[in-house]
Amino acid sequence: MNTLQFARHRRLRNSAAMRSMVRETVLNKEDLIYPIFVAEGKGIRTEVSSMPGVFNLSLDHLGEEVDEVVSLGIPAVLLFGVPEHKDAEGTEAYHDHGIVQEATRFIKERHPDLLVVADTCLCEYTDHGHCGLIEEGRILNDPSLDLLARTAVSQAKAGADIIAPSNMMDGFVTVIRQALDEAGFEDVPIMSYAVKYASAYYGPFREAAGSTPQFGDRKTYQMDPANRLEAIREAQSDIEEGADMLIVKPALSYMDVMREVKDFSGMPVVAYNVSGEYSMVKAAAQNGWVDEEKIVMETLTSMKRAGADMIITYFAKDAVRYMEGN
Ligand code: PBG
Ligand code: ZN
Repeated sequence: MNTLQFARHRRLRNSAAMRSMVRETVLNKEDLIYPIFVAEGKGIRTEVSSMPGVFNLSLDHLGEEVDEVVSLGIPAVLLFGVPEHKDAEGTEAYHDHGIVQEATRFIKERHPDLLVVADTCLCEYTDHGHCGLIEEGRILNDPSLDLLARTAVSQAKAGADIIAPSNMMDGFVTVIRQALDEAGFEDVPIMSYAVKYASAYYGPFREAAGSTPQFGDRKTYQMDPANRLEAIREAQSDIEEGADMLIVKPALSYMDVMREVKDFSGMPVVAYNVSGEYSMVKAAAQNGWVDEEKIVMETLTSMKRAGADMIITYFAKDAVRYMEGN
């Protein structure tokens, strides 16, 4: 008889079959959302220099991309627009023939079952690069809401399946929900960027979308990375305002926040594995310093373990290939 008193944890680790039987968290391709930058114009297929493998694509190149996404079994894409013209009011964001609206129509026609998630913000469309209207260097919260609501409605009209507002103005879920309902889109869910920090991890995205603020920063509307309780308040108010799903963004540095948001809300939670997180892994992998496949799968699995039900990631296509062993 064994009289030693200690736990033999290793019993359940002795073979691949045993390990997979007791595994608590599984990453599925159904959990993934792939972001795409759609650019106005023709013949555009420009790689984002800080995001190897990620491209700005005009409509004539979008077909190949979404065909690949569908053939891999990824259920959803998240669309960001790169317009030809920007102005102070971000007019192209809510134009019925804006680039995201046209891309949405194109995708829904080609692949009716692929879910189109539309990012609802102004910063890619404003010449000053901020997510709302500006007056004397300050963000105007309430006047921006009307433009965001118009953007969401025009995206829903174009066929977007999910509206994902990322602007961080107070009250955006309320006005967008109301506007969608009034326009007859009461069945279109809102995936709210409920908890979004003012983060340096968005750097490569701003290069991709040309959305770097031309003055100042986003600290008066995006959250202070030091705050945890504020994340609960942000999530709570978005739930009360009618959000159907909650995004926590960025993901890697905010896993604690993700867990708390999941536990207190019980809502579907989405991790946004942002551009800077992608670029760091790519850079290290290209130098041969880390094993890209292993790092990506460990990172995405950890996000699910931390409470995410879904993950927005530029690695979505790679992750499916890794899962399927090719
Ligand atoms: C726009 C928006 C940003 C991201 C998603 N939507 C950038 C920002 O707030 O500056 C970042 C995504 C990423 O880094 O991958 N509001
Ligand atoms: Zn924005």
